[in-house]
Amino acid sequence: MPEIIVDNLTHTFGKGTESALTVLEDINLTFESGSFNCIIGTSGCGKSTLLKMMAGLFDPTDGEMRLDGEIIQGTDRRRGMVFQQDAVFPWMTVSRNISYGPRLRGASKAEQAEIEAKWVEAVGLKGFEDRWPRELSGGMRKRVDIGRVYANNPDILLMDEPFGALDAQTKERLQADLLDTWRETKKTVIFVTHDLEEAIFLSDSIIVMSARPGRVHHVEKVSLPRPRTDEMRLTEEFLAIKRKLWAMLEH
Ligand SMILES: Nc1ncnc2c1ncn2[C@@H]1O[C@H](COP(=O)(O)OP(=O)(O)OP(=O)(O)O)[C@@H](O)[C@H]1O
Ligand SMILES: [Mg+2]
Repeated sequence: MPEIIVDNLTHTFGKGTESALTVLEDINLTFESGSFNCIIGTSGCGKSTLLKMMAGLFDPTDGEMRLDGEIIQGTDRRRGMVFQQDAVFPWMTVSRNISYGPRLRGASKAEQAEIEAKWVEAVGLKGFEDRWPRELSGGMRKRVDIGRVYANNPDILLMDEPFGALDAQTKERLQADLLDTWRETKKTVIFVTHDLEEAIFLSDSIIVMSARPGRVHHVEKVSLPRPRTDEMRLTEEFLAIKRKLWAMLEH
């Protein structure tokens, strides 16, 4: 059963001939339930706009998105989003940021503590539980963001360049952890990245967008076996996909 369907979606910001800007045009996509999908495309092609609409932050100008047949409208805890920009609450410690969602839903102190311990560890922030966001680096704040979204346990994970600001080692560790979480929980993931290697390593499908107005230029199916291992990054199959995507983006 296909999970999310994007149907003839178009989005224009602003009105009138002078200020109207069409950023997405005629997008048709199907995200299978439990699949891992990456979106790549040049800066400004509308990737973040598409993800925000899937989160339900605003409606498309035309067309619609359906989740299990129901039109997506408004935000919903089942769709969790890691924003491209920093979204941590500066007035809460690392732990309190991470358990924010469960606390809002009335989780007990014991449940909150368990969730905090689990996700602080998972995003590599052990020892920083009681720090304030201003005391963290940009990459650490990003990991707080990720932990907070994971702690909400959404069915659909919308991730907008979540690992962009991280060093190579941390990035590879979080990629592997994300794949583990995904395999265990069978979430549907839609992940935006500029890193082709990251897209290939993670994905079942890679959506290549064309420059503005963003359209779906190509969908690349990645059939590398799972579980994925770091050695696969050096295989001919992997590198061939990378060359192909690179050529497409260069166009
Ligand atoms: N709220 C807004 N109002 C007006 N224009 C906007 C708004 N948000 C985005 N845009 C415009 O829409 C276009 C697409 O922006 P978007 O952030 O979706 O791009 P992107 O593909 O995520 O780029 P990047 O890779 O740099 O993150 C840009 O030209 C941007 O200026
Ligand atoms: Mg963006």
